[in-house]
Amino acid sequence: SEALPAISSAETLASLKTAARHITELHLPVALPTETVYGLGADARHADAVGRIFSTKGRPADNPLIVHVSSIPMLHSLLPPSYTPSRTYQKLIDAFWPGPLTLLFPADPNLVPSIVTASHPTVAIRMPSHPVARALIALSNTPLAAPSANSSGKPSPTKAAHVMRDLGGKVGVVLDGGACEVGLESTVVDGLHADGDVRVLRPGGVTVEDIERVLADGLESGERVPRVLVHRRDYQDVEMEAAPTTPGMKYRHYAPSVPVVLLMTHVDPRKSDHAILEPLDAVLDSLLDSISGGHPIKLGALLHSDSPLAAALTAKSASSARSFTLHPFDLGLASDSSQTAQRLFDGLLTLDQQGVDMILIENVDEMREGLAVMNRVRKAAGQTRWVKI
Ligand code: TXA
Ligand code: MG
Repeated sequence: SEALPAISSAETLASLKTAARHITELHLPVALPTETVYGLGADARHADAVGRIFSTKGRPADNPLIVHVSSIPMLHSLLPPSYTPSRTYQKLIDAFWPGPLTLLFPADPNLVPSIVTASHPTVAIRMPSHPVARALIALSNTPLAAPSANSSGKPSPTKAAHVMRDLGGKVGVVLDGGACEVGLESTVVDGLHADGDVRVLRPGGVTVEDIERVLADGLESGERVPRVLVHRRDYQDVEMEAAPTTPGMKYRHYAPSVPVVLLMTHVDPRKSDHAILEPLDAVLDSLLDSISGGHPIKLGALLHSDSPLAAALTAKSASSARSFTLHPFDLGLASDSSQTAQRLFDGLLTLDQQGVDMILIENVDEMREGLAVMNRVRKAAGQTRWVKI
């Protein structure tokens, strides 16, 4: 396959038409940019087309897909006629659509085939803001079921080149819309519970703080502000974690082909279960020892531009008994969590491509986009070490 550019308008239109033909006539998935990550999209109403998404990614059939729409009428075409969104949903849609927020709605198997929802009673839907994604959905005139455009278990692609490297041999069309602005997947929200509270199943591009702010705004008299509960932080979903049809969260995710180690450099004193900090030097020695010998070691590190780890790692590379070359990847300033989010997957994929033996990554504060960043880092990391620097 060939990466089709989405740059000049004539070229863009021709590329979009080719992609739309793959979707509507050939019933094949195409790779497309969204503002979060690249997606692998197919006609959400066509079960065979959706089946090809699962086979292309090697995705387990029990992990449901998000459906992407380009308009509110298209949203309603997927929902039971009797359904009207709650005030909470109306506020979230008004504030965050188009954009990186996915909402669960009641599913009707006559409107959305059960392969999309993995037979769950709900269907996840979002309206992306990326102009190429919106144009492709509108031109195809059908909602697109689209997971991230990566082989199952790998980090999500945030550039067309990432998709080409991973799925280029399996996908006929890759639309190139440049680097994704958000860089992490959408926030998945379930607001269908009778208690009126909002449950965040997956933190993502829309922050919990922003959701709380929007829900607290413009209250009618006597109206209660819904609580925003984050899965695993504020509540556990025992049923979802135990059931054989558990969605995405149970699988190892976001993992490059080499080991990823999370370095916790500051311990939260409010948490009682914190471990004892080990000296960085001792941690690095044991990590280097765990890499099998016989070749010069390349150590990858995802680092903030202002991280104290950078100087410590450089000093170590000059003095270490087991010699290594350092391959740093810049995550921007530690205080800029949206930039860290934007660069995280690119960093994991770039260092993997450079053939490093191990990737180190420093923890970030779990505020704003940092919550979603740490959610992905914890899933990518095979081990966590608590270090003193
Ligand atoms: O930003 C995004 O959401 C990207 C772009 C392409 O739009 N898509 C994406 O899709 O991340 P995917 O398939 O990689 O992740 C979808 C997540 C999974 O964790 C899945 O379990 C969850 O959404 N999900 C989908 N339908 C669900 C449902 N009905 N109930 C609960 N979780 C659901
Ligand atoms: Mg994914």
